[in-house]
Parts: sequence; structure tokens; C-alpha cells
Amino acid sequence: MSESVRFEDKVVIVTGAGGGIGRAHALAFAKAGAKVVVNDLGGSTHGEGANASAADRVVAEIVEAGGTAVANHDSVTDGEKIVQNALDAFGRIDVVVNNAGILRDKTFHKMEDADWDLVYQVHVAGAYKVTRAAWPHMREQNYGRVIFTSSTSGIYGNFGQSNYGMAKLGLYGLTRTLAIEGRKNNIFVNAIAPTGGTRMTEGLIPQQVFEQLKPELVSPLVVYLGSENCQDTAGLYEVGGGWIGKVRWERSNGAGFDPKVGFDADDVAAHWKEIGDFEGASHPEDSLQALQAMMANLQKYAGK
Ligand SMILES: NC(=O)c1ccc[n+]([C@@H]2O[C@H](COP(=O)([O-])OP(=O)(O)OC[C@H]3O[C@@H](n4cnc5c(N)ncnc54)[C@H](O)[C@@H]3O)[C@@H](O)[C@H]2O)c1
Repeated sequence: MSESVRFEDKVVIVTGAGGGIGRAHALAFAKAGAKVVVNDLGGSTHGEGANASAADRVVAEIVEAGGTAVANHDSVTDGEKIVQNALDAFGRIDVVVNNAGILRDKTFHKMEDADWDLVYQVHVAGAYKVTRAAWPHMREQNYGRVIFTSSTSGIYGNFGQSNYGMAKLGLYGLTRTLAIEGRKNNIFVNAIAPTGGTRMTEGLIPQQVFEQLKPELVSPLVVYLGSENCQDTAGLYEVGGGWIGKVRWERSNGAGFDPKVGFDADDVAAHWKEIGDFEGASHPEDSLQALQAMMANLQKYAGK
């Protein structure tokens, strides 16, 4: 395989690519030779309104630079239309970058159903709809790359973002299972938790830092994860400001009790330090590995 990351004859959908981080992804994929579907509904950060000019402007930029792209103005909640657009324009779909997103920040005690639902609809249902529509084509051609956009607000939590955090970590749950299901068809699925100075973060990050967190500093990772060169799946990467790191689960060795004798809350209290002690912790990579500690505990007390 060639060292350079190139996309000749490959078709890439980037959702929410009319601005911010998605625009940077679309430009970077086009520069690497991909045919790009630039999707954007063109609404506000709060998910209100629509405007075709956002996607159109990015397509014009790509074409101006000698690249190939078409605009799509559907909401990601109509994901099948976006995939159909890719098929109509370019005849195939190789990479889906689920990037579109909105915010409806509120503390949980002020959260309304509409804020909860809309954030779920755009981030989770939208990413599901686009990916679900692309999936059969990827299976059939025995090739595909999917990238989901998570967030540190989901991984670690963030004040006022219960709806957003729920959606963003939900996407990593989706990543893990699609990576398992897609592997045999050479479909690799990864997630990123980006940080970028965009309209979404304007006013939330000190201006001097905001200016340094250029959206285009997120895209090289996404282009790599979207390429044939990348042979890793199920990963979660934090990225921004020129830095990239990988996140994984870590689990303590825990405490074991005799399941036949039983135990109570006092026993839990007595072993609380041990349960939370990460000295010599393990890093399970799948449910089977995760179950091993529990099975070992059953075995330890079996027949006693
Ligand atoms: N900027 C950050 O620091 C940061 C941090 C963590 C996660 N993210 C995530 O990165 C992604 C990009 O965010 P951004 O900072 O570039 O924000 P942004 O607002 O600049 O870009 C999001 C784009 O998505 C589009 N969009 C919204 N709803 C849509 C829908 N229903 N259908 C199609 N397009 C839609 C918007 O029109 C917009 O162009 C989002 O998923 C966001 O949650 C961003």
C-alpha cells in the first residue's frame, strides 16, 4: 500500500460541512483526491432554520481549487437522501463522516423535551440514518470507512450539556458495535472528540486560544481514519490544536465476593477502596474480555 493518503475514485460524504470543522474535513478530503458530497442544512447552532448557501460556498471553494464536490442541503435526519445524492452524482459511497451537530445547552433541571429530542435527532438519529443508508453499499463493495463525531462533553461530562453529552457518548457506543459488525466486510468505524474554534465554541473559549484551535487541525486525523491506509477500528481519538491522542476504557481489578454465600452493602463498603483501585488495572477491548474477571470470580468460588 502506498504511504500517501489518497482518495482517487473514492466518494466521501461529510455531513454539516457548510462551516466549522466539517468544512475543513470536506476541503481536506477533496485536496486528497476524493469526490465529496458537502452536506449542510445551513441552520443555526440551535438547529433553527435552513440555508443552502453554506454547502454551496464550500463546493465552490473545492471546485475553485480544482477538486470535485456536490452540495446537498438535506437534514441528516433524511440520511437516505444524502446517500442517494452521492450515488446519483458519483455512483458509489466509500466514506461517511458524521459531523453535523447542534447545541441546546441547559442545566438538567431546566431541560425541556424539545431540547432533549432535537439534540438526539440531529446527532444520534441523523448519524444513524446516514450510516444506515450507506451500510449496504459498503457491505456489497466490501469496503467502507465511517467516522462519528463524539465529544469530551460526552466522555467526561460537562455542565449544562446532559442532552449533548448523552448523544455524543451514544455515538461511541454505536461506533463500538458497528466496528464489530463491519469488520468482516472491511468496514472500519472510528470516533473522534474534536476541539475547534467554530461558531459552536465562540464565546466559550478564551479568544486567544479560540484563534489557535483552527478547525483544519482536526481534519488530518479524519482524513487518515477515512482512508485505506488506516487499518484500525473501534477507536476514540481526542483531537485539536495540533494534538491527537487515543482514549480507551480502563477497569480496576475490582473486588470479588463468594456468590453462593452472598454479600451485603457493608461488604461493599469494606472493599470500596479495592473496587476503585486502578493499580494494575486492565483495558478490556470487547465484552468477552470484560466478562473474564466475573467468570474468574465464579470459578474461584465454584465447588467451595
Ligand atoms: N467545535 C468544537 O470544539 C467541538 C467539540 C466537540 C464536538 N464538536 C462536534 O463537531 C461537529 C462540528 O461542530 P462545529 O464546531 O464545526 O460546529 P458548526 O456549527 O460550525 O458546524 C456544524 C454544522 O452542522 C450543520 N448542521 C446542523 N444540523 C444539521 C442537520 N440536521 N443536517 C445537516 N447539517 C446540519 C450546521 O449547519 C453546521 O454547518 C459537531 O458534531 C459538534 O458537536 C465540536
